Amino acid sequence: MSERTGYHIGFGREDLGADPPSMALVCGDPARTEKVACSTPGLHLVKQLSDNRALSSYLVSLADGKRLVCATSGMGAPSMSIVINELFSAGIRQVIRIGTTGSIQDDVRAGSVIIASAALCRQGAGSDIAPPEYPAAASVFLTAGLVEAARELGVDWHLGITASVDTFYEGQERTATSANKHLLGHLRGITEEYRRLNILSYEMETGTLFKMAGVYGFAAASVLAVIAERSSSEEIRSDLKGQAEHDAIRCAIRCVETLDPEYLTPRYWR
Ligand code: URA
Repeated sequence: MSERTGYHIGFGREDLGADPPSMALVCGDPARTEKVACSTPGLHLVKQLSDNRALSSYLVSLADGKRLVCATSGMGAPSMSIVINELFSAGIRQVIRIGTTGSIQDDVRAGSVIIASAALCRQGAGSDIAPPEYPAAASVFLTAGLVEAARELGVDWHLGITASVDTFYEGQERTATSANKHLLGHLRGITEEYRRLNILSYEMETGTLFKMAGVYGFAAASVLAVIAERSSSEEIRSDLKGQAEHDAIRCAIRCVETLDPEYLTPRYWR
């Protein structure tokens, strides 16, 4: 391992070739990263970069030769913050998260995708990076690219705010499916409160990613497959997950394919 190899991600800038890519697609689930890198039409696998602690990463290229990194962030903000920190050291300056989310609005159905314009960040890792009141804002350029891609592809999409929290059960007010039936007082009714604040969904990484983007100086966006309808149930809609995930991946790839190269220059991600 060279001195500049990311300790956790298991690769560094020198593994990315003479003209290293600045763009990364980041998935929480290593199976999704593999799916993006190895079986997405229009993407060609150049090489696997690493498979360290289940944080598998790949170097891939698009039909026009443009290369990018597909990396696994792991579950939740602490793991993701480590991966993003090391990707930044490897020269990555644009990150699109491809994740999953649970809708809290009646009109945002499982099977659709949410493109996050911003996040409410109720995350410990995010607070280590910047104060709670620091904005967790998406790159307007990558986000517009995702929306354009979704429109072009005919994907069922929504644009809005997601709530990023640290726990899947307690923090997302799950009790029926949780081993812990006791919710702290401040979490009881929080889903209804967020619904009234026009927050679209719950997930576990975007807020910290967006705060890191602001502090470090890189561009970040998030496209999220809706796999639960929390207005009516705590369950994951496994029947709709594959299709929603597929649409989120297609949006991310199309966004990268069609992104104006001007938006890869520093004035767009500072
Ligand atoms: N991811 C989450 O964090 N919550 C959900 O309900 C679904 C996916």
